[in-house]
Amino acid sequence: MTEQNSTALPILRQVAALRAQIAAWRAEGARIGLVPTMGSLHRGHLALVERALEAGEKAVVSIFVNPTQFGPNEDFAAYPRSEDEDVAKLRAIGAHLVWAPTLEAMYPPRFSTYVRVDELTEYLDGPHRPGHFQGVATVVTKLLRQVAPDSAYFGEKDYQQLQVVTRLARDLDLGVEIVGVPTVRDPDGLALSSRNLYLSAEERQCAAVLPQVLAETAHAAASGIASLPELLRAARAALSEAGFGPIDYIQICDAETLVPVGALDRPARIFVAARLGRTRLIDNMPVG
Ligand code: PAJ
Repeated sequence: MTEQNSTALPILRQVAALRAQIAAWRAEGARIGLVPTMGSLHRGHLALVERALEAGEKAVVSIFVNPTQFGPNEDFAAYPRSEDEDVAKLRAIGAHLVWAPTLEAMYPPRFSTYVRVDELTEYLDGPHRPGHFQGVATVVTKLLRQVAPDSAYFGEKDYQQLQVVTRLARDLDLGVEIVGVPTVRDPDGLALSSRNLYLSAEERQCAAVLPQVLAETAHAAASGIASLPELLRAARAALSEAGFGPIDYIQICDAETLVPVGALDRPARIFVAARLGRTRLIDNMPVG
């Protein structure tokens, strides 16, 4: 099924149609870049698409709200969906193809094969979102097999996801280069996220404290003015004070293995996940 519009941004929903388009581009010698998304696109997503376009690739953007990466008490049903607006944004920046598979195209009846990435998923979001990374790893493996791109672009906003995908692409010899793209932020520092739509006006104001606390803690940690546990305790208190509650974690971890570090003797990042009202926000930054 193809929906063609005036500026020819095809939207494909079945694997066979996708394969035919990719094969045609391959026959022309084109390089292909994939940007996996769950839609509700903002400037963060578009920055990934622009990276593929800058690399001279055919930019394939997948839009699929993946049920297997949402827990039973998470927001799968409520997750924002806005395909028409998404397609308009992608057309405006010159993307080449939207891959928006149906649920049945992605998960045929009796689907029973999953990809699990160990180690990296023991930390940070892993314990707080059981099954999440297995859902992500499975759908991303499928997307990488369906599109078979040269490169695939992922945001540092979801840094643990970026590491998980990099690891699985290497471990499973998928032959794709995984490219990480820096986080796009609003002027007050809040990382753009589809879930920011859930925030009330008051919560949205308060949310800017999250990147501020991260940046201040990262700076203080790098300058060595106090121990990491002391700085993280103070950061936690500052977030609670600002109205964040349950703070799932605020940790400084090895930037590659994601193992929490006691000292800054290797590249590290600070990571946070905290709830503001009913919205769970995550963010991360390099330390030093
Ligand atoms: P989604 O949350 O839609 O994000 C799609 C991609 O956009 C991810 O690589 C994410 O890290 C990136 N992104 C989101 N906000 C960003 C920002 N502010 N700056 C830069 N990049 C940003 O992540 C997913 O979807 C899904 O888990 C997916 C990988 C599509 C698998 O279902």
